[in-house]
Amino acid sequence: MSPETTRIAVLPGDGIGPEVIAEGLKVLSRVEDVFGQRFRFTEAPVGWAAIDACGTALPEDTRRLCAESDAVFFGAVGDPSRDPSLPPGERPEPVALLGLRKGLHANLRPVRLHPCLADSSPLRPEVVAGGVDILIVRELTGGLYYGRPKGRTPLPAGGEQAVDTMAYTTAEIERIARVGFRSAQGRGGRLCSVDKANILATSQLWRDTVTALAGEYPDVALSHLYVDNCAMQLIRNPSEFDVIVTENTFGDILSDEASVLAGSMGMLPSACLGDGAATPFFEPIHGSAPDIAGQGIANPLAAILTAAMMLRHAFNLAPEAAAIEQAVDLALADGLRTADLSPAGAGAISCSAMGDAIVERIQRS
Ligand code: IPM
Ligand code: MG
Repeated sequence: MSPETTRIAVLPGDGIGPEVIAEGLKVLSRVEDVFGQRFRFTEAPVGWAAIDACGTALPEDTRRLCAESDAVFFGAVGDPSRDPSLPPGERPEPVALLGLRKGLHANLRPVRLHPCLADSSPLRPEVVAGGVDILIVRELTGGLYYGRPKGRTPLPAGGEQAVDTMAYTTAEIERIARVGFRSAQGRGGRLCSVDKANILATSQLWRDTVTALAGEYPDVALSHLYVDNCAMQLIRNPSEFDVIVTENTFGDILSDEASVLAGSMGMLPSACLGDGAATPFFEPIHGSAPDIAGQGIANPLAAILTAAMMLRHAFNLAPEAAAIEQAVDLALADGLRTADLSPAGAGAISCSAMGDAIVERIQRS
């Protein structure tokens, strides 16, 4: 990739966003040195940081920067203590997050338990003994988040009625199902499609559509689970899963549940990918965590692993991405832990010390 084309919009945002993104940038600049890459980073405000600076959670300049960049490296937005000062529709989560995810239908959320973190998992050792290495492929531009009608209306007799609509077309389901099948081909060859086809019409179309595609991917073993059963199996027998593909809301909920398997939410990266028109978007899934912001104790590994996903998915830099992931494995194997990973807080290192530890361990293999 030539220097001109590698433009990264950096949006640190709120809470621990700036702290963890700073460590991600340290690691990316080490990748530049070791691999001779050149990235052009441009920072812009988003979330409450942008509301304070420009009056809106997603200023036009930030939107334009993202549109003109090759990838967006995003921290987190949101601060529940400030929410009451704004109507729900103007808060950072819907405005900035949903605004920047527009056109990006595939949300990849890998959940991996590093073997030496098995102690950090709240599940019994024998439950996670088989290993946890799951990719959740969440549909990101349809379903309840966007379906119309939507909203609240007063009722003549008093009270209100509220409506959200879950709608999916065959084309939307095929598009995300193909991401699931192709992901399974590149991993363990197993795809579990999750729905609620015993009740929901959207899920019946989902199951029929996914099933109809299976013939095109004979090397993938397809299975189906109802979402309630999936929620149970994830914590009963997580090693059963390879790739999970599911609709927007189910994927939102299941990915938070699955994050517990990784020992800490602070370990989980994500990517939002589209068909090429919209700028791919990369964010750690932990959110702004205002309770620990500014203390230097956040875990930067989710942001650092998010940087690796950006290199792999936006720039096709697989060796560079692997070098970051290996450095994370090495640091964990060396016993380095941030506070979220060391139960009693004993021996925990700071956010920036963890970033430094990853930087030191990045090398060409
Ligand atoms: C997530 C979050 C968001 C979502 C919210 C904050 C809009 O929960 O990234 O999982 O529901 O997608
Ligand atoms: Mg969520």
